[in-house]
Amino acid sequence: MKIINKILDGKAVSQQIKAEITEIVSKLSSPPKLSVILVGNNFASSVYVKNKSQACIVCGIQSEVITLDENISEAELLKKIHELNQDNHTHGILVQLPLPKQIREDRIIENIDPRKDVDGFHPLNVGHLFLKKAMLEPCTPVGVIEILKRYALPIAGKHVVIIGRSNIVGKPLGIMFLRENATVTYCHSKTRDLPSVAQTADILIAAIGKAQFVTDEFVKTNAVIIDVGINRLPNGKLAGDVDFEKVSPKVSAITPVPGGVGPMTIAILLKNTLKAYQNIMHKK
Ligand code: GUN
Repeated sequence: MKIINKILDGKAVSQQIKAEITEIVSKLSSPPKLSVILVGNNFASSVYVKNKSQACIVCGIQSEVITLDENISEAELLKKIHELNQDNHTHGILVQLPLPKQIREDRIIENIDPRKDVDGFHPLNVGHLFLKKAMLEPCTPVGVIEILKRYALPIAGKHVVIIGRSNIVGKPLGIMFLRENATVTYCHSKTRDLPSVAQTADILIAAIGKAQFVTDEFVKTNAVIIDVGINRLPNGKLAGDVDFEKVSPKVSAITPVPGGVGPMTIAILLKNTLKAYQNIMHKK
């Protein structure tokens, strides 16, 4: 895609990816299926799950949302996962996080069949990602790399600064940028003089989970800014981790919130579901 203005349009790129997936799915002999487990009534989680499930349907991927009670035990949830692991009609399994506190997230993730782990969170997939490339890699980091590539923004040799070190975004994204031959710096809550470090970035990633945390003093003129945050402001509006009004005049490219990284994450989830399907069917 060409940059017409400085906005990196994640919605448009995700539509392009979804069209590619739809085309491939339409030629398959049977439909891929994603099963999503939602535990409890976390409002944000239920919105995310609905968006994921709707996107599947648009692309011809079957989707099932399994809603479980907030008080479900770890053993009961594991039983459900083992059922889905065995189910020949389910190719992708996604357990929406966070989970209630009586359930250990790592135990749940370790019990998902790695071939169906469309989030790329299973230790086997994380290990493959670390060593070279995993068949299934986490959706948001892949989405970040993909949007840069589709806009033909160079990565090799660039200094990438990542603010945030979560297992879902920051940590795997750093490994992916390294694979693309970038120089990578991780920052976090204990980093000293964060604005000065961030200012050295050619590509700055904000994945902190704090609304409008990154202001103009964090950014170098003409840097590329990727905003992974989705936060709700007291007035009810959505905001990223970047203060868009302050930062956007100074930079060469920036993702908006909403309409930036969010739709990319969903597009990659669909891509992963298709990959899982192809891998499972191929090995039958
Ligand atoms: N909660 C927030 N982001 C994610 C994600 O990418 N996958 C899952 N399963 N849960 C999440």
